[in-house]
Amino acid sequence: MASVDELFEAAKAIQAKAYAPYSRFKVGAAIATATGKVFAGCNVENAAYPVGSCAEAGAVSAMIAAGESRIAQIVVMGEGENLVTPCGGCRQRIREFAASDTPIHIAGPEGIRKSFTLDELLPFSFGPDNLSSP
Ligand code: THU
Repeated sequence: MASVDELFEAAKAIQAKAYAPYSRFKVGAAIATATGKVFAGCNVENAAYPVGSCAEAGAVSAMIAAGESRIAQIVVMGEGENLVTPCGGCRQRIREFAASDTPIHIAGPEGIRKSFTLDELLPFSFGPDNLSSP
């Protein structure tokens, strides 16, 4: 599995490519899978504001397009002083492909600022198992 350092560098590199002319808030995300691969994404905004997509959504799309579906750990990197924790929708996107103890590392340009598990960010979550009949 890729190290947190490798994910940090991948998130930083793709953050620079973000298309965020409206918020001017660039975000990068990098997913490590258990197979040793790294998939990254950046936010892509749109003049029709609600149509914009988050960095995590891009990273998940890249992972799925490559035929992988398990997130081992993920780094999300934003700008500014505050922690750029994934938005609610992206917590759910990550949840679909991760375990309750999957690490989610929140970074700034200088390094990892704080790490959470998925369960800490999305407790009592709804997932594929909730759809199974008893
Ligand atoms: N953004 C992300 O890419 N990921 C998040 O989890 C939080 C927010 C983006 C969306 C928008 O382009 C910009 O950051 C400001 O909200």
